[in-house]
Amino acid sequence: MKLIVTGGAGFIGSNFVFYQRKHHPEDDIICLDALTYAGNLETLEPVMNDPKFKFVKGDIADRKLVYDLFEAEKPDYIVNFAAESHVDRSIENPEVFLRTNVMGTQVLLDACRKYGIKRYHQVSTDEVYGDLPLDRPDLYFTETTPIHTSSPYSASKAAADLLVLAYHRTFKLPVTVSRCSNNYGPYHFPEKLIPLMISRALADESLPVYGTGENIRDWLYVEDHCAAIDLILRKGTDGEVYNIGGHNERTNLEVVKTILRQLDKPESLITYVRDRPGHDMRYAIDPTKIHNELGWLPATKFDDGIRQTVEWYLSNRPWWEHILAGEYQNYYERMYAGR
Ligand code: NAD
Ligand code: DAU
Repeated sequence: MKLIVTGGAGFIGSNFVFYQRKHHPEDDIICLDALTYAGNLETLEPVMNDPKFKFVKGDIADRKLVYDLFEAEKPDYIVNFAAESHVDRSIENPEVFLRTNVMGTQVLLDACRKYGIKRYHQVSTDEVYGDLPLDRPDLYFTETTPIHTSSPYSASKAAADLLVLAYHRTFKLPVTVSRCSNNYGPYHFPEKLIPLMISRALADESLPVYGTGENIRDWLYVEDHCAAIDLILRKGTDGEVYNIGGHNERTNLEVVKTILRQLDKPESLITYVRDRPGHDMRYAIDPTKIHNELGWLPATKFDDGIRQTVEWYLSNRPWWEHILAGEYQNYYERMYAGR
């Protein structure tokens, strides 16, 4: 079978490409990625010469490019990771979030209708449910929790989810949607909490904790997310939404202190800074549905996953140092010059 993985040069998309190569070596993968600031072709170096893998540089909102690709490749499955993904950037400039996350999704759905596919999978987020209060630890997001977004990022992801489900109901397009909690692991872009804190602590720089640091996130090791998407793609039911999360709730402060302990750096590096506007307090996923229906359970506990992640950043310094230096953005030119 042939899969198009959009956004495969980003954090979760690249981990998903590696997961597919490892668990389904018989399948062909085409990665469609615009290589925005968050896309890094250096990440995909291990598969670039693999005959079952092809990289296409392109924007999911470019209708002609997407239609040409579908016409040429006739894919069976589409997994859409491509998105603007950083909440702080959406507060600074919402427009590109609407273009990529909403219009880009629509173009992909239209291509699926026009050329026919076996399954379109939308990679979504628990942020579409808004947040939970800190004084109600008994509450969790289920698939029927109402959509109630806080940031332009989450609003754009919610709009995309609704569009995907509308294409199922109206046009009978075979779709699935997954809503996952915060991921962490290798190849996480160093603007997000965990890799930002690791890279700054290693340089003995201050660690900017928003507000009081009491906000809670429900952390999932990225490979567990990839395994869940793989199951949904191959065994999920058309038109269904699946929540993905592993009951690993931590306050931001706990996460930062864990990283400091592991790196043997002092807590005095922590600096409390102005809070994120509209900052969600707590995310917590109830994964009962995907467990009961598809048998998914996370394999990695937070304490093990965070240790492996810190070790990965220590042993792969060139990867994130190139990002911080901006060098990774020249990689495409170097790799493709004259091709
Ligand atoms: P990321 O920012 O690391 O990667 C996004 C990728 O999409 C990049 O490679 C980028 O170049 C590409 N891209 C952006 N705009 C594009 C466009 N117009 N056309 C083609 N490619 C484009 O993001 P991530 O953290 O890997 O998240 C991937 C997906 O998972 C997103 O849809 C996000 O909403 C969702 N998600 C993320 C998390 C998380 O914790 N990171 C949790 C739940 C869901
Ligand atoms: O829940 C899933 C979502 O998780 C995904 O949909 C998003 O794409 C992904 O970016 C992530 O969103 P968050 O806003 O939760 O992640 P971020 O790493 O930006 O922040 C995690 C928490 O840490 C959040 O409460 C804000 C806080 N924070 C973040 C940064 C970057 C800080 O305190 N300081 C920081 O410098």
